[in-house]
Amino acid sequence: MSVLSGKNILLGVTAGIAAYKSAFLVRLLVKAGANVKVVMTPSSKDFVTPLTLSTLSKNEVFSSFTNEEDDNAQWNNHVELALWAHLFVIAPATANTLSKMAHGTSNNLLLACYLSAKCPVYYAPAMDLDMYQHPSTIETFEKLNSFGNIQIPATHGELASGLVGQGRMAEPEDIVSFLEKDILKSLPLRGKKIVITAGPTYEAIDPVRFIGNHSSGKMGYALAEASADVGAEVVLISGPSSLHLENNLVKVLHVTSAKEMYDAAHAYFDNCDIAILSAAVADYRPVQVAAQKIKKKDSTLTLSLEKTDDILASLGNIKKKQFLVGFALETENELENAKTKLKKKNLDLIVLNSLNDKGAGFKTDTNKVTLVTKDNKVIPFSVKPKTEVAKDILQHIIKQLHA
Ligand code: CTP
Repeated sequence: MSVLSGKNILLGVTAGIAAYKSAFLVRLLVKAGANVKVVMTPSSKDFVTPLTLSTLSKNEVFSSFTNEEDDNAQWNNHVELALWAHLFVIAPATANTLSKMAHGTSNNLLLACYLSAKCPVYYAPAMDLDMYQHPSTIETFEKLNSFGNIQIPATHGELASGLVGQGRMAEPEDIVSFLEKDILKSLPLRGKKIVITAGPTYEAIDPVRFIGNHSSGKMGYALAEASADVGAEVVLISGPSSLHLENNLVKVLHVTSAKEMYDAAHAYFDNCDIAILSAAVADYRPVQVAAQKIKKKDSTLTLSLEKTDDILASLGNIKKKQFLVGFALETENELENAKTKLKKKNLDLIVLNSLNDKGAGFKTDTNKVTLVTKDNKVIPFSVKPKTEVAKDILQHIIKQLHA
């Protein structure tokens, strides 16, 4: 899966012949899973039609502050468009637009979006070779780059004028891979290895029965996805769960019992930088697993149970450089119990869930957590979707790692 998946990309199209390639670029960005909106300068519509770009992007195309053809003309809010964008990509970027960007001119919607954008801005110049080499263009590039804009260099080749030289807009495929590489490079956990446990474990009683719990795995899967989003390579050790996750950066290992989860966690722990144990591991398992289905005979049945190994505590015992995170699900004396677990299991961070909180718990899509750090800092969060809780936890880990 591309790192562009789920990203909101505002594509700026300006009036250069390479504008016809914007259609291919929109297609590739959409194919990579991005949400694309297009903003055009008025003259760029002579090179590629808004209809082509709106059809490919499946979104309205914007080119002026109001929609003039409509009697009930509406204000196209440049601030909203710019803030919607996770990335603003201007391709092709003509010398004229680039010069205006460098000087803060704002006489069209695209330029107003540029001045309002808080996200990274990429620009792919497209112009004739002499324009590309002109000292004023070079100065424009320097100025734009000094503002933090990112240049996608033009390539060498035949130009619309018939001349051969540098100035051709980078090919749409190359623009997409430039964006992907640049995003990956800037991700805070790029190259870090994370082990995550998720879901319940099932402890067999006989061939058809088990002891389990109501954990859905949602929290652990959300953590795996959020970790991949910030560049980490993830091993997700999942107990039985109906969830699926497909992501190039996530390897999913399916296990059933606490023993299998223990073995998998130990196999990957040595080599990891961070381990987050969110699984609801069974604390006890039957001493004997019946080889055949247990028949009902007597009016009562007593199962003898033995403790499973505590995976988290065992990793706490052997940890060296790893940042170890545990979860605590509590119903009373929450904070005290969490602090005790943090110490006892030698953790760097514990995520406390209280079953007394509305919106927290096993099967819900939301959770309410409190983070407790090694140095006893207590950081409460409000009820949020588990996907957001996962981001909060990772942001905290990133902060701690870089502290
Ligand atoms: N955990 C584990 N292996 C186990 C039991 C728990 O790795 N055999 C981990 C969980 O994944 C979680 C943390 O330990 O990160 C806390 O689990 P919890 O059940 O809340 O606490 P316990 O230590 O088992 O204590 P108790 O059940 O008495 O509250």
